[in-house]
Amino acid sequence: MQSVLGIETSCDETGVAIYRSGAGIIADLVYTQADHAAYGGVVPELASRDHVRKLPGMLREVLDRANMVASDLDGVAYTAGPGLAGALLVGAATAVAFAAALGKPAIAVHHMEGHLLSPLLDGEDQLDFPFVALLVSGGHTMLVEVLGVGEYRLLGDTLDDAAGEAFDKTARLLGLGFPGGSEVAALAAHGNDQRYDFPRPMVNRPGLDFSFSGLKTHTRLLVGKVGPADYADVAAGFERAVVETLVIKCRRALKQTRHKRLVIAGGVSANRRLRQALDSALPGQVYYPPLHLCTDNGAMIAHAGWHRRGEGRTDGRIAVKPRWPLDQLRSPSSGER
Ligand code: KG4
Ligand code: ZN
Repeated sequence: MQSVLGIETSCDETGVAIYRSGAGIIADLVYTQADHAAYGGVVPELASRDHVRKLPGMLREVLDRANMVASDLDGVAYTAGPGLAGALLVGAATAVAFAAALGKPAIAVHHMEGHLLSPLLDGEDQLDFPFVALLVSGGHTMLVEVLGVGEYRLLGDTLDDAAGEAFDKTARLLGLGFPGGSEVAALAAHGNDQRYDFPRPMVNRPGLDFSFSGLKTHTRLLVGKVGPADYADVAAGFERAVVETLVIKCRRALKQTRHKRLVIAGGVSANRRLRQALDSALPGQVYYPPLHLCTDNGAMIAHAGWHRRGEGRTDGRIAVKPRWPLDQLRSPSSGER
């Protein structure tokens, strides 16, 4: 199979892209929905409607940019989960209908597998299996042992909030916009990260699980005691605590598995302080996706779909699994809907 179209609609980004064997990503479009900012979080109904509005035009445009017609495609990959049920259904129904019209297979992709394999997009030959992956996004904070495509073992997960969620909640406390990760990071760049003491959750306990809700509570109480002039120092201290916690767990995961390579992916992997801290703690061992592929996009879905091209289906079944553990990667169409 040569060319795979990827469609991502799991949350508030509409992404479409085309991956071609030998050439990599040849066209890539992402639309980030703006309406949610006013609500301080993603509104599922608005997200679904926006995907419906945007997808048809973006599909035409991505084919134009790739200089292709639809019949040149060999398969259509889509995010089947995890994510918002209604938003996933828009992408899944579109992909399955499009594939059926073309007589080509539709390929259900796990969103986190898309993130996890995205550092390979920088050059398939530069990163070898096995590796440990830190997946840090708005909904997930996971450490995964990756032995090959589809061979994933969960090493650690968050017991409560995800790292990105902690950034988003801190942003809200500091009166910043949504999504808040990059805004907290920008404010933190002007702050003193030593001024306030923040807890480093779970680092003194054995194991590779995470917990960020205590940090969130600590931040909320601190913000109640200080004024806006101190917010940059709060942001810097918070960011440092999250970063140090993630670094400690990554180092522990490498030690435990004895693997030599660490991949980080997901929206929070765009964080510069995290990249710098990992680079200095684990020199030469850390791999990232290119910055524009850290947050949600269609390229990672087209790419993961290409790797899973043997699993495409032509039976017209729309497979959506809003909750889908990464270590249970059998086809979602046989499970819950
Ligand atoms: O992977 P992603 O685009 O969507 C999900 O699958 O959740 O991740 C979005 C998350 C948000 O929580 C956002 O605040 C966070 O990634 N994020 C960042 C940065 N850029 C995005 N967090 C910290 N620093 C950043 N520079
Ligand atoms: Zn994501």
